[in-house]
Amino acid sequence: MGRIFSGVQPTGNLHLGNYLGAIRNWARLQKDYDCLYCVVDLHAITVPQDPKELTANTREVTAGLIAAGIDPKDNIIFNQSQVSGHAELAWIFNCVARLGWLNRMTQFKEKAGKHRENATVGLYAYPNLMAADILLYKATHVPVGDDQKQHLELSRDIAQAFNSMFDVELFPQPEPIILETAARVMSLRDGSKKMSKSDPSDYSRINMADSADDIAQKIRKARTDPEPLPADPSGLETRPEAANLIGIYAALSDQSVDAVCAEFADASFSDFKGRLTDLAVANLGPIGDEMKRLVGDPAEIDAVLRDGAERARALAEPILREARNAMGFVQV
Ligand code: AMP
Ligand code: TRP
Repeated sequence: MGRIFSGVQPTGNLHLGNYLGAIRNWARLQKDYDCLYCVVDLHAITVPQDPKELTANTREVTAGLIAAGIDPKDNIIFNQSQVSGHAELAWIFNCVARLGWLNRMTQFKEKAGKHRENATVGLYAYPNLMAADILLYKATHVPVGDDQKQHLELSRDIAQAFNSMFDVELFPQPEPIILETAARVMSLRDGSKKMSKSDPSDYSRINMADSADDIAQKIRKARTDPEPLPADPSGLETRPEAANLIGIYAALSDQSVDAVCAEFADASFSDFKGRLTDLAVANLGPIGDEMKRLVGDPAEIDAVLRDGAERARALAEPILREARNAMGFVQV
C-alpha cells in the first residue's frame, strides 16, 4: 500500500472548496492507502495568528476531517507542531533548497503582496516545511488542490537534491493526486477568484458547518448572468460564475459537467439554484451537524490528536535518524 500525506491549515472557515478539492478525496482515499492527515499549525503561523483563534481553528479543522468521514483509527490525524520532526527536517531542507527555487514560488508572491520586506522568513520558507511534512514519512502520494502543484514539484526537487548531495536513496519522489472535477472551486461572488477562507465576505463561500438556511441563502445570492444554462460545456467558456455553479453541482453529485449541462439545458438559474441547494444541503448537512457536536467536545478531539501525534512520531523517528546519518550528524 502506498502512503499518503496531506495537510490543511487551521485558519478557520473550512469551506466547500476545501471539501470538494481536498477533504472529500482524503476520505475516499483511506481505503486504498495508509494515510496521514495533518492540521498544519506551523504553516499557519507564517502569517500572524491570534493564539486563541489558532487553538479553536485547529480543533474545528480536526472536527471537519472526522465529520467528513476520515476514520482516525485507520488513519493518522494530528497537528503538525506536536511532531517536532517536521521543524527539524524543514531546517535541514532550508539548507538544501536554493533561493532561486523559492524565488519562483507564486504563492509567496501572492501572499507577500507589495510589502515583501515585511513578510516573515517563515512565509518564504513555507514550501520547505511542506516538503518536510511529506518526506518525513516517505509519503508516496499527495492529494492536493491544483494551487499546491508548484509546492509539490519543489518537494520532489528537494528529495532528489538531498539524495544526490548525500549519495543516498533516502527520499522517494512523491506523486500528486489531483482530481480534475472541482479541483478549483471559485467564489460565489466572483467567478474569477478562488473560494477562500480569507475572503472578507462570508457570502463568497459555503462553509462546511453552515446551516441549511445559510446554504440556501448563499446560493440564492450567488452571482450569475441573465442567460439560461447551456446545453454543453462549450457554452460555459466565457461564463465563469455559471461554470462554477455547474462544476459544484457536478462534483457534489459525482457526475461530469457534460452530464449536468445535458440535464439542465436551457433551465433558468432560479430552477437550477433550487436543485443545487437541495444537493448541497443533503451533502453538507450531516457533516456540519457532526462538526458542531465534536467542537462541543474538545476532549474528544484532543484525544484523537494525541493518539495521531504518537503514531506519527513513531513513523518519523527512524526516517529522521537516516537523514541525520546521511548528513554526518553524530547521534548520541
Ligand atoms: P487551505 O485552505 O489553503 O489550507 O487548503 C487546504 C486544501 O484545500 C488544499 O489541498 C487546497 O488545495 C484545497 N483548497 C483550498 N481552497 C480551494 C478551492 N477554492 N478549490 C479547491 N480546492 C481548494
Ligand atoms: N500548503 C498546503 C495548503 O495550503 C497545506 C500543506 C501543508 C500540505 N503541508 C502539506 C499539503 C503537505 C500537502 C502535503 O493547502
